[in-house]
Amino acid sequence: MIKTDFLVIGSGIAGLSFAIKASSAGSVALVTKRGLSASATEYAQGGVAVAWSPEDSFEQHVEDTLSAGAGLCDRKVVELVVKEGPARIKELIDLGVHFTVAEDDPENTFELGLEGGHSRRRILHVGDKTGHEIEKVLSDIVRANKGIMLFEDHAAVDLITTGKIKKRFQGAKERCWGAYVLDKKTGKVETFLARAVVLAAGGGGKVYLYTSNPDVSTGDGVAMAYRCGAGIANMEFVQFHPTCLYHPDAKSFLISEAVRGEGAVLRLKDGRPFMDKYHPKKELAPRDIVARAIDNELKIRGDDCVYLDITGADGEFVKRRFPGIYSKCLEFGIDMTRDWIPVVPAAHYFCGGVRTDSAGETSVKNLFAIGEVACTGLHGANRLASNSLLEALVVADRASKRAGELMGKRAPFPKIPQWDIGRAKDSDESVVVTQNWDEIRRFMWNYVGIVRSNKRLNRALSRIELLKKEIQEYYWDFIVTNDLIELRNIATVAGLIVESAIKRKESRGLHYNIDYPSKGGKASDTVLKRFN
Ligand code: SIN
Repeated sequence: MIKTDFLVIGSGIAGLSFAIKASSAGSVALVTKRGLSASATEYAQGGVAVAWSPEDSFEQHVEDTLSAGAGLCDRKVVELVVKEGPARIKELIDLGVHFTVAEDDPENTFELGLEGGHSRRRILHVGDKTGHEIEKVLSDIVRANKGIMLFEDHAAVDLITTGKIKKRFQGAKERCWGAYVLDKKTGKVETFLARAVVLAAGGGGKVYLYTSNPDVSTGDGVAMAYRCGAGIANMEFVQFHPTCLYHPDAKSFLISEAVRGEGAVLRLKDGRPFMDKYHPKKELAPRDIVARAIDNELKIRGDDCVYLDITGADGEFVKRRFPGIYSKCLEFGIDMTRDWIPVVPAAHYFCGGVRTDSAGETSVKNLFAIGEVACTGLHGANRLASNSLLEALVVADRASKRAGELMGKRAPFPKIPQWDIGRAKDSDESVVVTQNWDEIRRFMWNYVGIVRSNKRLNRALSRIELLKKEIQEYYWDFIVTNDLIELRNIATVAGLIVESAIKRKESRGLHYNIDYPSKGGKASDTVLKRFN
């Protein structure tokens, strides 16, 4: 049994920043499913949106965020994230993140990128490997920090709450006390007790057949929080990135929106551009509009992909600005300085998640959620590109302070039962996992994707209900494995997306239902909560 002040689940920018800050207030245990850098942050290309340039302002960044969010952002949260952003970026720079500076600039000012929905250049980046650089700097610090116990290859199974262990806590106030965690190497489930638990487990793009997300993005944080009774908000708002490389061997490779920011044009296979039909800002329209436009063109024509053309830009500039994308495309025989890049949309980011305040506090006492797993109110119905790394930094900082306050009176740990495997045995039917996994991801893509309808959503609902039941039976019969944990989580998250999408009787932001094509009246969040 591991006892600690702070238990952090997940190792992207949010989890690592929190762990570093919280380590000055108490002991930290950080658990992560694979290696430290296996997170969506590692793959973030575009960068961090921040009002940095003298030509920009907090007001303008706030307005762009609100306008993308289609009436569902919480203005207070937007303002504080935007205003506290520059201070958090300075901390990153002090820790050793080297953002790209403008070429031939004696003042060494940062080069600011442009992405869809932004009215100014405001994306700080490290070439096109921003997330990788941030993740590397933070991981090195975490590894060197003696106050942080690191548990790689450890997958959280479920949170431990007073409500879940009812017999022992009759009448006690609902609160989180830790988590059961599978050590993937030994196959044993260990008990982690903590005075504050922080979910930083990222999003769940793997719920969909096509996604820009890494394999670890299986919605574990949202699923665990839901199972323990925390409020989950706005799950219908799944952001589809318009441009992922279309190639049979290029699993989930993103072509950053920053490429469009530098002038790339979207073309049909006969070379015609098409974005002018959909939005005055064409390729730089908000992401939902670009993704829907591509989806529409593909469906009308029966084509497999559209093309992104940056051949009009200076080739040397393209190689310097997008070294990662340039070399990845070259691996597939595409020289982006001369060839068009075949692209398709793919599931990219969850705007919804565990409902929290601006310090990451959830509706369950001593349980925090930060980063993509959370729904703070910043993104509303559609996230403005590159706002998420900023949100993770700001909210992780606030959460570390709030959670630190809980350490004032260190409550003694209660007696918590160890994980009980009951009569579970080793599974001899792994095919059930693969079959259900494929089935969920396929119907989510076909029925609950970029464009939805009542009929498709209801079909998805009946399928997910059936699968959840089957998975639940399987879960109790067999010894828990990482595959089974992930399957159970994607099923829970798929169910939450479907339910939320059915509840929203309008089209808003990222949620588009052909049976309710326009925005409804008063904007409100969709909140789901399980009663234990
Ligand atoms: C991109 O580089 O296009 C991704 C940026 C983001 O999702 O914020």
